[in-house]
Amino acid sequence: MRTLKDFEVKGKRVLVRCDFNVPLDKEGNILDDFRIKQTLPTIEYLIEKGVKVILMSHLGRPEGKVVESLRLTPIQNRLMEYLDVQVSKAPDCVGEEIEKWSREMQPGEILLLENLRFHKEEAENNENFAKELAKLGDIYINDAFSVCHRNHASIVGIPKYLPSGAGFLLEKEIKALSQIIKNPKRPLVAIIGGKKVKTKSKLIDKISEVADFILINWLIAEELKEKNIQLKYPQKIISPVDKIDTFDIGPKTIDLFKEKIALANTIFWVGPLGQIEEEKFSKGSIETAKAIIESRAFSVAGGGETVKFINKLGLTEEFNHLSTGGGAMLDFIADGKVVGSEALK
Ligand code: 3PG
Ligand code: MG
Repeated sequence: MRTLKDFEVKGKRVLVRCDFNVPLDKEGNILDDFRIKQTLPTIEYLIEKGVKVILMSHLGRPEGKVVESLRLTPIQNRLMEYLDVQVSKAPDCVGEEIEKWSREMQPGEILLLENLRFHKEEAENNENFAKELAKLGDIYINDAFSVCHRNHASIVGIPKYLPSGAGFLLEKEIKALSQIIKNPKRPLVAIIGGKKVKTKSKLIDKISEVADFILINWLIAEELKEKNIQLKYPQKIISPVDKIDTFDIGPKTIDLFKEKIALANTIFWVGPLGQIEEEKFSKGSIETAKAIIESRAFSVAGGGETVKFINKLGLTEEFNHLSTGGGAMLDFIADGKVVGSEALK
C-alpha cells in the first residue's frame, strides 16, 4: 500500500477522502471533533507542499437526498479555525462546475465538497459516480479509516481510476491495530465493554485467537449467558464478579481487572464497562483507564464512546493510539483488513 509520502504531490490536485462524520447537536454544533483533528496532519502536509487540496466526506445518513441539516458547513468552519486558512465549500460533490473549480484552484487552496451521501450512488458504489469524483483529482488519498469498512464509491470506487494511497491517519490506524492482532507483545489483554453486544461475540472469538485474557462488562457477560453463546476460548474470558446496581462493575471486579491489566504488555480496549453517561456508573471505566496507563503496556482504545470518555478524562496523550473507528476498527480486528485499505493495494 502506497502512502502519502510516496507521491510527488506539488502543484497537483489531491482528492482526500476524510471521515468528518462527527456528532452534531440540534443546532448543528459539533459535539466532538476528534475525527477532524486527527485528519489535520495530512491536510497541513498537503498545504505545505503546495497542493490543490480537495476534501470530501459523508455526514450522517441522508440516504441519497439533500438534507439541509447535514450540509458540511460546520465542518468547513471548524477546519478554518484549526488551519487558519480559507476553506471553500462546493454546493455539491460532482459535476462540471466543480471539476472546473478544482482545475482553477491555486496551490495551497482548500475546497471541501458537499456531503457525499446526498447522492445515493455513493452507498451503491456506483461506477459512474466514482468516475465523476475521480475527475476532481490527480491523486486520491484515503484518510478515512473509520469508514473504510464501507463498500462505497468514495472508498473503493475511486482508487480504480486514480493513483491512490493512504493518508497519515489511515496509515497510523492500520499500524497500531496491526500491532494488536499480529504478534502482540504478550500478555495481550483485551477489554470489551459497551452496549452493542450483537457486534461483539465475533470480535471476542477473533481477539481470543491472539489475546491472553479478555475482560468483559456485565452487559456482555449476561448476554453471552442468556443466549447461550459458545465461545471458542471460554477459558480466556474474565467476567465481572460484582456490580454497582446493574450498570457498572463493582470494587472486587475493578481489583480483579486491575490485576490482569498490570500484567499486560499490550492492551486493546473498546466499550465502556458501565453506563458512563452517569457519573455514579463511571468508576469502573475510570479505574480501568488509569490502570491501563499505569501498566505502561502498548495501549490502543477505540469506539466513539470510549474515545470520547478518554478525551474527557484528559488522558488522550497517555494512550499509544486512540482509534477514530468504531465499526471499522472492530472489522479490522476481526478480519485483519478493511475494504478501504485493500482497495489501495
Ligand atoms: C461511522 O461513524 O461509523 C462512520 O463514519 C461510518 O458511518 P456509517 O456507520 O453511517 O456508515
Ligand atoms: Mg457506524
